[in-house]
Amino acid sequence: MSTPRLWITRRLSDATLERAARDYDVVINHGDLPGTAAELIAASADFDAIIPCHSEHFSADVVAQFSDRLKIVANHSVGVDHCDLPSLKARGIAVTNTPDVLSDATAELAMLLMLGAARHAVAGDRIVRTGQWDSWSPAFMVGKQVTGARLGIIGMGRVGRAFAAKARGFDMEIHYYNRSELSAEDAKGAVYHDSIESLLGVADFLSLHCPATPETTGLMNAARFAMLPRGAVVVNTARGALIDEAALLSALESGHLAAAGLDCFQVEPGGNPAFAAHDTIFMLPHIGSATRTTRDAMGFRALDNLDAFFAGKTPGDLL
Ligand code: DGY
Repeated sequence: MSTPRLWITRRLSDATLERAARDYDVVINHGDLPGTAAELIAASADFDAIIPCHSEHFSADVVAQFSDRLKIVANHSVGVDHCDLPSLKARGIAVTNTPDVLSDATAELAMLLMLGAARHAVAGDRIVRTGQWDSWSPAFMVGKQVTGARLGIIGMGRVGRAFAAKARGFDMEIHYYNRSELSAEDAKGAVYHDSIESLLGVADFLSLHCPATPETTGLMNAARFAMLPRGAVVVNTARGALIDEAALLSALESGHLAAAGLDCFQVEPGGNPAFAAHDTIFMLPHIGSATRTTRDAMGFRALDNLDAFFAGKTPGDLL
């Protein structure tokens, strides 16, 4: 077979692009803008493979217009909610993702958001930065202590478990909800709840680590926020679709929730402008996996999947 032709939709790490250029007939989107539907459809006629990010949307409508040339979509992401998997499978297009390699980076960011939300990072940074820090008192910026508190995790997959490992360093009491109970070896003492409702009742801190699917869209709604203990802190490094943002805002404005730490939003890029006025919301722009180490590892994992596919083997991360 001649060298497969590969389209890389975004500016991946230098090491990834160098390896891709060595092994494939590659076209890189140096402009680094998200691939549009029209570009994806055109690419399906010109390329055997695409490495996209979560910023490219392989909807059923787009996939229906694909040419037969495209053989594999090797995602540079663990989440695949931007891909209509049944449509891609029906077209015989292989789809892979990049699990494992971003778990620690994402868990680190969840920890940053949890600590920052709990300890007034937004307001504290602002008053120092803008010269408004003109007094001090023991009653000033009193936050919520993380050490020893109860942490609820929804989704105890790779990232959820990596976050739990870091939270153990803060002596947190870990509770989780997952589709199935973990083995004792994986749970490492975390308490299993067989319903989200049961978990919410004990979650002084709640962190979301499940994928966005039709079943989990709007998972945290008004009724469920109300089930959290008063003063709880909510962290989301998974997907914006998991949270009803209007309900989150109401729960914060009423004082039922103390704070939130968010890396993901229903609308990306951009986020929710209504959140901007609230110091209790510590926000970052979907950068959970954005470390140099992890970007290289994600790129290499996507290329490993491509290499296996074009060698006639089953890619390790075939979905
Ligand atoms: C992922 O891998 O799903 C991250 O959200 C970055 O795309």
